Amino acid sequence: MRPRHGAATAQRLEWQLPSRAQDKMKRYEKFAGEIAELIRSGVLAPGQKVPSVRHASRTYGVSASTVFQAYYLLEDRGLIVARARSGYFVREHVRRALAEPEIARQEAQTTEVDVSELVFSVLSSIKDPDTVPFGSAFAAPELFPLPRLARSMAHAVRAMDPRAVVADMTPGSHALRRQIALRYMVGGMPLSVDELVVSNGALEALNLCLQVVTGPGDLVAIEAPAFYAALQVLERLKLKAVEIPVHPREGIDLEVLAERMQRLPIKACWFMSNFQNPLGASMSDDKKRALAALLARHQVPLIEDDVYAELYFAQQAPKPVKAFDSEGLVMHCGSFSKSLAPGYRVGWVAGGRFREPIERLKLMTSLSASVPAQAAIADYLQHGGYDRHLRKLRHALESQQHAMLAAVARHFPEQTRVTRPSGGYFLWLELPENVDALRLFQLALAQGISLAPGPIFSATRRFRHCLRLNYGHPWTARSEQAMATLGRIIRSL
Ligand SMILES: Cc1ncc(COP(=O)(O)O)c(C=O)c1O
Repeated sequence: MRPRHGAATAQRLEWQLPSRAQDKMKRYEKFAGEIAELIRSGVLAPGQKVPSVRHASRTYGVSASTVFQAYYLLEDRGLIVARARSGYFVREHVRRALAEPEIARQEAQTTEVDVSELVFSVLSSIKDPDTVPFGSAFAAPELFPLPRLARSMAHAVRAMDPRAVVADMTPGSHALRRQIALRYMVGGMPLSVDELVVSNGALEALNLCLQVVTGPGDLVAIEAPAFYAALQVLERLKLKAVEIPVHPREGIDLEVLAERMQRLPIKACWFMSNFQNPLGASMSDDKKRALAALLARHQVPLIEDDVYAELYFAQQAPKPVKAFDSEGLVMHCGSFSKSLAPGYRVGWVAGGRFREPIERLKLMTSLSASVPAQAAIADYLQHGGYDRHLRKLRHALESQQHAMLAAVARHFPEQTRVTRPSGGYFLWLELPENVDALRLFQLALAQGISLAPGPIFSATRRFRHCLRLNYGHPWTARSEQAMATLGRIIRSL
């Protein structure tokens, strides 16, 4: 049985957890990360030889066995392959260079949102567990430490002080909020436990934030393309969308946003600054800083959806816009759904100057997040090895991304454009103009393959020839076959 610790030891362990995990990143992992970054950024191209073990060991000042271990790791992650008697090469995962999608600017317009019917019809059809889940919004359950979480749940509930069922209601379990605050601190953005409100998943937090700062008929700046649930929230609250184009790698077009803010009475923004769903785009720190300054100038709040923040492939966690906000205008929403505990429905918001109204609205709507689920996650964060799990999860997702990109290159028409995100688990594809993604969706579904068609990500039904594919599941022969089938259907349209 896992040893339990006295209060003093527990406190020390808890404070050590994230940094200790960092220290534990071995030399070869660090070196592998540097080579992976060179591959991702294109410095080392597909087919190119990576430095020989002797050369790398001399140049980087690491031992030959460190280089070997790093290369084995990169091989496991699908980034390089060994060729007999020739050394290691960057995998030819993209035999031809696939271009990046282009998101066109469009004339300013404010739009009533009416997407729910379409979204529900797509979502209900992709729930069948026998379908190849390229349309899913979730990663494979086997990538999560569910048995270990169950042990945390059992232990935490058994050890729970009966008073916790009331005490841990909104704003939420103090132990959990402390663990979340610690992760913010290690990420370089210290904040107070008191700023955090625990919610039923990030989606509830996002809803509450939007309700706190808007009323029916108000204008809200959203991304184009946007996460479809954001569009549904606007529709439900009778808000009008002002679509801001998103660059597939760099995130929202700040120039367009600045112009719209100048001209229109925008009441709030709802953006994702890291691994945007569906494009996978991430803003640079400079851009995040500039966005925070723009918000401050107009005193417009930002609802920042950062649910994929932990799923980064680079060496370091990306910062949120909130890290650059000195006015309390950013409501930063996070979740354990994508990184640890799908189905537990535990998320949170660091609410800035809006914390109190958010907390009150939460009390008036759902009262509280589940107390046992909060206790389980708090226990896991303290004792379960979250950072170790996250490292494994990121590696799995990265190698699955390579497998899917390779399959796109092999099976899809040459004009296909595709993103190559540095985190998360979605690819966004722009197909030849004549392809109707909704028709493709129907035809693919008839063959047992789901996908997320472009129009569900737009208030104005744009992105007709685009789709989002999920690479959050272990790559198998079935996945490869499904990609070949999709390629055949696309060519037949
Ligand atoms: C971009 C984005 N935001 C929010 C959510 C909702 O997160 P949660 O499950 O924590 O409510 C999702 C889930 O699909 C998502 O993709």
